[in-house]
Amino acid sequence: MKSNTDHFAHKSKSWDMNSKRVGNAKSIAELIVKNIKIDKSMELMDFGAGTGLLSYFIAPYVSKISAVDNSPSMLLEFKNKCDEFSCETEVIEKDLSNDFLERRFDGIISSMTIHHLEDTKALFSKLYDMLNEGGFIAIADLDSEDGSFHSDNTGVFHHGFEREILEKQAREVGFREIGFELASTINKPHREFTVFLMTGLK
Ligand SMILES: C[S@@+](CC[C@H](N)C(=O)[O-])C[C@H]1O[C@@H](n2cnc3c(N)ncnc32)[C@H](O)[C@@H]1O
Repeated sequence: MKSNTDHFAHKSKSWDMNSKRVGNAKSIAELIVKNIKIDKSMELMDFGAGTGLLSYFIAPYVSKISAVDNSPSMLLEFKNKCDEFSCETEVIEKDLSNDFLERRFDGIISSMTIHHLEDTKALFSKLYDMLNEGGFIAIADLDSEDGSFHSDNTGVFHHGFEREILEKQAREVGFREIGFELASTINKPHREFTVFLMTGLK
């Protein structure tokens, strides 16, 4: 059943004002550009695009980015600044934990989103089906943490991830050439958190 709760409604307006968030998205984007052959003909999905921090940094390298997210408030911020993106953009309000998109993309990028979905294997299976043959995933999220990354864990299903578990799940749904690399480190006053980039091909 679709949940109508917008967990990001109170954060969306100030989301981009956090310089650590912006820096994190920029580091992830730089690693994606370095590790994956992306080109100006490609149409990508940014899963859990939010206000478009990752999309913004990837936009100069691709033809189009479709921002998929289940938060109307975050997508409103994305729309408000879409003139500033260096590629065509599109916004699709969709909850991929219980829904599917009858579309195919050349690649799917994602930043700091999959910890909000309980069943990551089911998600990988959906993402696989939404890719063209040879398409890629480039998914960034937290390495396993102690639950202290978020001050409020509402809507958080995973306190980061063990990379081996994600790799196994992705392989089981069909992805090949799965790899992980450190994308960024987020320093909070009480400790630091590492963010991986997981890549794979259909
Ligand atoms: C932590 S924010 C990250 C936003 C953006 N990628 C960034 O790095 O700034 C997570 C985003 O994932 C979205 N999200 C969470 N669960 C989702 C789901 N089941 N389907 C689609 N989007 C989801 C949220 O609405 C939110 O915009």
